[in-house]
Amino acid sequence: MSTLPEFDTDPGRLAQPFPADFAWGFAASAYQIEGAAAEDGRGPSIWDAFARQPGAIADGSTGDIACDHYHRYPEDVRLMADLGARAFRFSISWSRVLPMGTGAINQPGLDFYQRLVDALLGAGVQPLINLFHWDLPQTLQDRGGFANPQVVGWFTDYAALLASSLGDRVKNWMTFNEPAVFAFLGHAQGIHAPGLRDWPTAIRVADNELRAHAGATQAIRALVDDAKVGVAIDVNQVAPATSSERDRVAADKWSSARDAWFLDPLFGRGYPALGLDAHREAGHLEGTDLAEPPAGDLDYLGLNYYRRDSVSARSDRAFDWEIGAVPGSEQTQMGWHVASDGLRDVLLELNQTYAPPEIVVTENGAAYPDTVEQDGRVRDVGRLEYLARHVAAAADALRAGVPLTGYHVWSILDNYEWSFGYTRRFGLVHVDFASQRRTLKDGARWYQRLIARE
Ligand code: FCB
Repeated sequence: MSTLPEFDTDPGRLAQPFPADFAWGFAASAYQIEGAAAEDGRGPSIWDAFARQPGAIADGSTGDIACDHYHRYPEDVRLMADLGARAFRFSISWSRVLPMGTGAINQPGLDFYQRLVDALLGAGVQPLINLFHWDLPQTLQDRGGFANPQVVGWFTDYAALLASSLGDRVKNWMTFNEPAVFAFLGHAQGIHAPGLRDWPTAIRVADNELRAHAGATQAIRALVDDAKVGVAIDVNQVAPATSSERDRVAADKWSSARDAWFLDPLFGRGYPALGLDAHREAGHLEGTDLAEPPAGDLDYLGLNYYRRDSVSARSDRAFDWEIGAVPGSEQTQMGWHVASDGLRDVLLELNQTYAPPEIVVTENGAAYPDTVEQDGRVRDVGRLEYLARHVAAAADALRAGVPLTGYHVWSILDNYEWSFGYTRRFGLVHVDFASQRRTLKDGARWYQRLIARE
């Protein structure tokens, strides 16, 4: 049972503040839904390798099959269209189109994305292509991956290939999803691929992501008329756990060393001073020689928002922090603290600090343990409420002048939730992974009515 005050989830009422052409949509990513990991010439990615490391994934699973979206995309596109979605943000599996990461093109892989784009457009759903959702080709990792500055050229060429293949029909592009998660969880904390635990490497990876973003943006702009190029940054609400000075300083340092670490450079301000202090103090900059990263040149800023992170300092040392949900707070199955007012506040703050031309909520959603009941329904009350509260918070931001143009639910389908494997369900559509049967949850019907303003 929810510990939150009651909330009116009426979709017609919640839809009111949004303009008729608001881009309601869904987000997903290649490794989490496609499957067909060894089919039609796809090369291995770092997630294929990482998922096979003993102990890396909660249920020992891989994305080999996932939602089998590679084969079932017509059904999935139909589901999205039936729900009234206006946008679908998906990612390209780099090693599906370039099995070695560079050089020879795998035509069947490219053809899959051609078919997907055509199906979406045919169903009235605008594709938003994300170039990188963490599944780097393994061959490139073997050459140093994102820690190797050559990645800027590899990524720019890859972006140019996609832009020239799909840019006649696809106008909405995203270079990176959550560059902080890829850099830090993958290279410093070791809980995502490639599973490294070295902060100076993570800092170099982040720096190369910013440079690769700039290279890819230029390539897309040169090849696609009227392209809109952006990036998805995950900014959750960061708050000190107590009113102590120590926790306040820790929270400020953490948000600077993590969120502003990407946002400030993207908006042409270089690395933030407080974040630099924190990383330097913690020894993360050893052996690195950070030059000023290039500005981002964004048409829109993508925001992935899920929760409130409370920071409590164990000592005065930078990064000697505990970060997570306040004990006893309302939490999803991820243990994430539900804080919808945080979405409003983050949107207002991003707008005030950086004044991006547009903001799109490129991910928002919640995991709860859902089951298909006897009568065929999935009563995902918790998710429905979570989404309703966040939509209301987005409306508050819109009313306060934030140039918000879209909102994408994470996710259309239950899928492979990285180190949690198949143990966390974020979909508005339930997936029975044994039969691949799709079942609309109550939340999906609610979202359909919201989009239809009913
Ligand atoms: C985000 C990721 C996405 C999914 C959601 C729950 O950090 O971008 O792939 O895992 O969280």
